[in-house]
Amino acid sequence: MTATTATTPPSPAPGTSGTGARTGRRALRDAASRVLLANWTGASTVPSHTLYPHQWSWDSAFIAVGLSRLSPRRAQRELETLLGAQWDDGRIPHIVFNPAVPLDAYFPSPDFWRSSTAGAAVGAPPGIETSGIVQPPVHALAAWLVHESDPESSGRRRFLERVYPRLTAWHGYLRANRDFGGEGLASVLHPWEPGMDNSPCWDRPLERVEPAPATSFRRADLTHGDAADRPTDLDYGRYVRLATDYRDRGYTDTDTDNDTHTDAGPRAPHGFVVEDPGFNAFLIVSEHALAAIALTLGQDPEPHRERARALTTALVGRLWHPEAGLFLCHDLRTGTPIEEKSVTGLLPLLVPDLPGHVVAALLRTASGEHFGLGSTTALAPSYDLRGRSFDASRYWRGPAWFNINWAVERGLRQHGALARADDLRQAILASAGASGFAEYVDPRTGRARGTTDFSWTAAVVLDLLARTEDPGEER
Ligand code: SER
Repeated sequence: MTATTATTPPSPAPGTSGTGARTGRRALRDAASRVLLANWTGASTVPSHTLYPHQWSWDSAFIAVGLSRLSPRRAQRELETLLGAQWDDGRIPHIVFNPAVPLDAYFPSPDFWRSSTAGAAVGAPPGIETSGIVQPPVHALAAWLVHESDPESSGRRRFLERVYPRLTAWHGYLRANRDFGGEGLASVLHPWEPGMDNSPCWDRPLERVEPAPATSFRRADLTHGDAADRPTDLDYGRYVRLATDYRDRGYTDTDTDNDTHTDAGPRAPHGFVVEDPGFNAFLIVSEHALAAIALTLGQDPEPHRERARALTTALVGRLWHPEAGLFLCHDLRTGTPIEEKSVTGLLPLLVPDLPGHVVAALLRTASGEHFGLGSTTALAPSYDLRGRSFDASRYWRGPAWFNINWAVERGLRQHGALARADDLRQAILASAGASGFAEYVDPRTGRARGTTDFSWTAAVVLDLLARTEDPGEER
């Protein structure tokens, strides 16, 4: 599907003052609200009725932040529905399947993942079907922002009391099961876990993975998306292989799960094991959010602060590459950095306590020739504009994504780059409206790619509009 099928009329770029600008902002807010209301299914929100017709984990976190500007109660529900599918080992699955949606509407479907049977031994819930992999831990940050948007309703419904134990269990899962590097950072076991599915960062690690035969599965995404905007069949075969292997080992993460722990510590019996800076940046910010939540609940925030400090030290110590000017992913199967510049390497801008020289270098890199933010591009591209694998249309190999730019905007603002943050905010609002709330856009032209009426695009618009209208609530 392309932008031409958008049901939402394009909105004018909202300025910062004047009646016309106010009207533009109102029209944009109304249009974004319509997207989220249309994608609400009663207990949660689909990213897109066509391409992603179930509940997705990190989508729901961003969606909740946007929903909180429309209905705090619905935003709370969004997160609570997701957390209702949490496994006993603490993992939050990347998809919670809606049983009312036909099996062939999305692949890999529930009968592929078979969570309630294949994952039963590690705590997959019975009576609900989910995937078995995870996505970036944006949830505690989202819960805190949802609470802050309406503390009164949150307090009345005891929202934080209810989600806090689940969120701490989620972070506990990542600590106990995913620290394959041994210094606290969480590893991802599938290219879908860091959320940037077919980033060129995964090309080398994926070369080792034998693709599942193309005849063994049927992609549903190509029914709803242009093949030129989506991952290739070869990549899909590898995604399927990795997911099949994980399922067939009962979604166990380490050999200790199988009682084969050795003195050498837990092993990583997976074909793909990567430390990703963006995933860990969200983890750190969410750990800070858990500290704020704990404090609000009258509990001790210090363990969360201590973990955030330790994770920040590990992130900088392990993944920072001064010569590249950004953080790099590390392939733990080879023990080497992945020499590709991805926007995931800029996401640590979200982390509050970075060394000054790291912040300065990240700010330079964001606006330099590889990402062009504020010069050749209005929104940060997902991958190096000068990289040999750059593709302005294809999923995570170049296009600009709105949730990622929302995160970059927060990072810029946090580190005092206020004018650049303001420019990026305006660019996000203008591009989201003009593209029909596209899933992603060509970073050079702003042309819509992927599908439209995309939930997290609408959600970040609602959040940024609310912040623009009330600068007093900046945080
Ligand atoms: N984003 C992946 C997909 O395209 C998996 O969640 O289906």
